[in-house]
Amino acid sequence: MTTSPAASAPAAPAHAPSAAHARAPAAAPAFDSLPPLSLYVHLPWCVRKCPYCDFNSYEAGPAGFDEGGYVAALLRDLDSELALAQGRELASVFIGGGTPSLFSGPAIARLLAGIRERLPLAEAVEVTLEANPGAAEARRFAEYRDAGVNRVSIGVQSLRSKQLARLGRVHGPAEAEYAIELARVAGFTSFNVDLMYALPEDDVDGALADLAAAVAHEPPHLSWYQLTLEPNTAFERKPPPLPAEELVLETERCGRELLAAHDYARYEVSAYARAGQRCMHNLNYWQFGDYLGIGAGAHGKVTLPRDDVVERRAKTRNPRTYVSTAGTARAVAVERIADAHQIAVEFLMNALRLPGGVPVALFEQRAGQELAAIERPLREARARGWLADEPGVLRPSAAGLEVLNRLLALFC
Ligand SMILES: C[S@@+](CC[C@H](N)C(=O)[O-])C[C@H]1O[C@@H](n2cnc3c(N)ncnc32)[C@H](O)[C@@H]1O
Ligand code: SF4
Repeated sequence: MTTSPAASAPAAPAHAPSAAHARAPAAAPAFDSLPPLSLYVHLPWCVRKCPYCDFNSYEAGPAGFDEGGYVAALLRDLDSELALAQGRELASVFIGGGTPSLFSGPAIARLLAGIRERLPLAEAVEVTLEANPGAAEARRFAEYRDAGVNRVSIGVQSLRSKQLARLGRVHGPAEAEYAIELARVAGFTSFNVDLMYALPEDDVDGALADLAAAVAHEPPHLSWYQLTLEPNTAFERKPPPLPAEELVLETERCGRELLAAHDYARYEVSAYARAGQRCMHNLNYWQFGDYLGIGAGAHGKVTLPRDDVVERRAKTRNPRTYVSTAGTARAVAVERIADAHQIAVEFLMNALRLPGGVPVALFEQRAGQELAAIERPLREARARGWLADEPGVLRPSAAGLEVLNRLLALFC
């Protein structure tokens, strides 16, 4: 199956059941409590657009961008969302992109101070910032840390020059290794390295060499994504030669063994962590928690017990339009989901990405319905050996995780 870089891209429903599906009208969900709340902040500029990337990102160009104006817009945006927190503190903040490390230390400090003035942060709050090795400087890393960032996520992708060039990256292996060392020297005890496999013209040995080289730096967390050809990207328009499926499966099998041998536990399709180093922010997405999303193209998801709905919010994607409309109704598209079946599917699309699964009680609380509502597809999934037959837990089996899209299709 394909993997998706969920790190900064909240899993939105890819295929909500349509009216074409003949099934009885679903009961309404009923929510009597609120899940934890996170905040995603999108900073959309990059040095150069990578040919495989479908994130909402834009080349900064020689004129650069107005970071002060953008931070002010983010805080206006947050002001307009405060009521949705419904009294909760923020469990995590994720500053993603784009390339957030193009922003100066003082700009990130103003942003985090503004967030703290508006919403309480949990005592153990996790604050992550995505850094691109082509835009990583020692001074900035220390300033980010002093501003309140306590985790960085470094987009390494590969540690081989030829592959990095093929991916259109603005950095080479030396800058990537330097960025990892910077994170350590700046005192980040928690950080992530993003790597991709199944790269153009790659083989199993090459992919494993990348993984071994990354592991040698002992990052506390590693995200290992299969390169996918996304719609509306340069790679989709002119696809590079990608390795055959057998090679990809062999790479995954050997790579997972290598990671396990170095104490990295797989806790999501593409996420591996040493003990105590899981990403709380992404876990909140996968466990169907709530999140506010601020910034151009950012998505949010909020449970509203008063109306028994889940509200999804999407901000306007163009940075210029975003800056001029942030905080007004023009900057946001709102969808309210009151269909219990659709909410159950969205819950499972996230939670079944977790090899450890989730307690049934979490489904009942966060999808606002009894497990009995999805009894028929559950029975089918168990009969096929795709779900563990374990009372009180919703967990994909190893076979189910291999065919995750087919497993999810049973519930749609
Ligand atoms: C928001 S992106 C980029 C972060 C940062 N701007 C960078 O590129 O270093 C987060 C991660 O998603 C992964 N990613 C992006 N596009 C992908 C694709 N088409 N297939 C697989 N992984 C992808 C990359 O590993 C990337 O580091
Ligand atoms: S640097 Fe990251 S966000 Fe920017 S274009 Fe490349 S992959 Fe996308």
